[in-house]
Amino acid sequence: MSRNLRGLSARRGLKEGLYEAVVKAAGGGHISRDEGLASLADDFMTGKAAALGVSSFYDFLNDGQYGKKVYVCDGTACLTSGRQANLMHKLLEQYPEHEIGTMTCLGHCHSNNAFMVNGEIRVEGTAHDAKTLRISSNTDKPALLTPEGDIDAYYALAGVCMADTGSALKELELSGLRGRGGAGFPFHVKVRPSRDAQAAKKYIVCNADEGDPGAFSDKWLLEERPHSVLFGMLMTGLITGADTGVVYIRGEYPLAVRRMREAVVQLETAGITESGPGKTSFPFRFHVVEGSGAYICGEETSLLNSLEGLRPEVRTRPPFPAVYGLFGKPTVLSNVETFANIHYILKEGGASYASLGTEKSPGTKLVSLDGAFNNPGLLEVRMGTPLRSVIDEMGGGTRYPVKAFQIGGPLGGLVPVSKIDDLTLDFESFSREGFLLGHAGIVSVPETFPVIRLLEHLFEFTKKESCGKCFPCRLGAARGYEMLADAAGKGKKIDKQLFDDLLETMQLGSLCALGGGLPLPVRNALQYFSRELEGYFTTKKA
Ligand SMILES: Cc1cc2nc3c(=O)[nH]c(=O)nc-3n(C[C@H](O)[C@H](O)[C@H](O)COP(=O)(O)O)c2cc1C
Ligand code: SF4
Repeated sequence: MSRNLRGLSARRGLKEGLYEAVVKAAGGGHISRDEGLASLADDFMTGKAAALGVSSFYDFLNDGQYGKKVYVCDGTACLTSGRQANLMHKLLEQYPEHEIGTMTCLGHCHSNNAFMVNGEIRVEGTAHDAKTLRISSNTDKPALLTPEGDIDAYYALAGVCMADTGSALKELELSGLRGRGGAGFPFHVKVRPSRDAQAAKKYIVCNADEGDPGAFSDKWLLEERPHSVLFGMLMTGLITGADTGVVYIRGEYPLAVRRMREAVVQLETAGITESGPGKTSFPFRFHVVEGSGAYICGEETSLLNSLEGLRPEVRTRPPFPAVYGLFGKPTVLSNVETFANIHYILKEGGASYASLGTEKSPGTKLVSLDGAFNNPGLLEVRMGTPLRSVIDEMGGGTRYPVKAFQIGGPLGGLVPVSKIDDLTLDFESFSREGFLLGHAGIVSVPETFPVIRLLEHLFEFTKKESCGKCFPCRLGAARGYEMLADAAGKGKKIDKQLFDDLLETMQLGSLCALGGGLPLPVRNALQYFSRELEGYFTTKKA
């Protein structure tokens, strides 16, 4: 079924494609939503149920969220900082309650008081200014923070590499660059099959759906270093033979969408990339697509389905995107930060990049620090940097006592302060100690914040964001949330055996890392905060 729909959608491609048509139709305008969806279903020959199935998936297109005037961030850092209640109180003085919605998360975790009005992110108190973000690095030659400078000079490197794409790929291999979207998969390993694939059409897709509450590093790159991201995509396209690059940016980042679109126009105007017929330096065209509010669209196959205008449920793999990706064509799909590293690698050499990190985690990593830190903001650190140095030296410690840090998003581990000295900031150290580096967003959990509430929040988040394709996640997240909410709010005890079974079922039976990854921070909490949590559990069956 989805292959048929994919085929129908592929006929129209990306420009005025099915996804954007659904967004437009669901957004109403001069005709009703129902009429709009029915007419596009006819136009694309997909059937009304398929169009409705797509539009009903996204937060921004749903009645509950659609058309609010103001959206308050309800991400993890805002929750644990305890500032949401005050923000809501202030907003209620200006807006009626039914005009206030929520968004998870606005990527303003360094200030913990963000809301969105008319597509602009603001903070309670002072005006929003991206430059108020503190930015620092512990390397003299940062790969990611260095300004791009003049774009002709910046892209001249692509011309040099185009003449010998084999050598460019070798530098990427030498660099050992690993994906920064969470799993740490070696980048060159997905580039090679796409390069080797015999196909008339290939794509490069940049995953800019940074949904992990606590992370705002991709947001910063998109807003402040857009050409580093586009350059990385362009080079990957030249190496693999792809002529189209798509940047899929979450709708919660409106400034990032604008900045990336401006950067694409800059390239087209300068004759560097294509906009239409005419001579350009590189046979490559970019599209910037704005998401509509769905965390799961950060999962790569869900993202591809979203771009195709299908219901963005996770696909089973294999086949992997490198051979069967966007519209079924070979596609290199990677994270914003992964692509942003490529300029440094090709300019300074793979070996130089590798030397910035450890043997198995080469290079640097962007780290996001939330508002609990004395120096909140963005860091570029060498992989292998002691976590203690990140937290106490670079972050300046926290403004109030903290008992744990959730690192790597909602599916990342819960690191108690007692483990800080055992960790260095790299993939191996985190996994060896039973945590996950993920996107390296660091969310502080104050001593006064109940761990049971954090667990309830994580299950609630997963319940809401589950794509619903597999039972362990769809049902498990809902049942787990009920148990935790009853325990936290009504004093009902949780059957420990049942809860352990639930975690095991989710971990082993889920199709993707949303349901499969949630048990990690929950088990960390059960291990390191057993005394705080024991009163909520019973070992006897009810
Ligand atoms: C639930 C879920 C959410 C994800 N969200 C993101 C995301 O926001 N950004 C991202 O780059 N990768 C995300 N990923 C990982 C992607 O599926 C994919 O592995 C990644 O984009 C590949 O790029 P990389 O190799 O450069 O890391 C997510 C995965 C899962 C299971
Ligand atoms: S684990 Fe959850 S999000 Fe992932 S495929 Fe299953 S239902 Fe969908």
